[in-house]
Amino acid sequence: MRVTTVYDCSIVQLPMIHNAQGNITAINNSVEIPFNVQRVYYLYDIPGGESRGGHAHKELKQLIVAASGSFNVVLDDGKVKRTFTLSRPNMGLLVMPGLWRELDSFSSGAILLVLASLPYSEADYIREYNQFLKYKN
Ligand code: TYD
Repeated sequence: MRVTTVYDCSIVQLPMIHNAQGNITAINNSVEIPFNVQRVYYLYDIPGGESRGGHAHKELKQLIVAASGSFNVVLDDGKVKRTFTLSRPNMGLLVMPGLWRELDSFSSGAILLVLASLPYSEADYIREYNQFLKYKN
């Protein structure tokens, strides 16, 4: 996935079933997202001012959702950076492989939910920015 750019990523409006008792959002494999989910994980108890991410994935596709609170996702394809603010549980950011990502500006109590296309594999990570730039070129 050397050729993906930040323009291959977008905010996905997720369906919301609304009523006076609260809202429900459901995400189905290959319906609201263009992959099958093999793993779900979430970040929570994130200290104020902390940033995370700082890596790229070779094959992994992800949908990132602010299940609670808000934060920014900065995507970088080696040429262009785009910042997305996620702040609602019915908005997801589709992150394609081959992009450097940083996560920052977490509100207190934020929960960052990730639906991922593959199981965890350290071999799928690129953790050095210079190595990422070499991979992209
Ligand atoms: P990492 O993906 O680097 O976190 P972030 O980008 O949010 O800072 O993961 C942090 C640690 O957690 C790393 O040692 C790998 C481990 N980890 C798992 O064991 N399984 C998983 O599904 C994930 C996402 C991480």
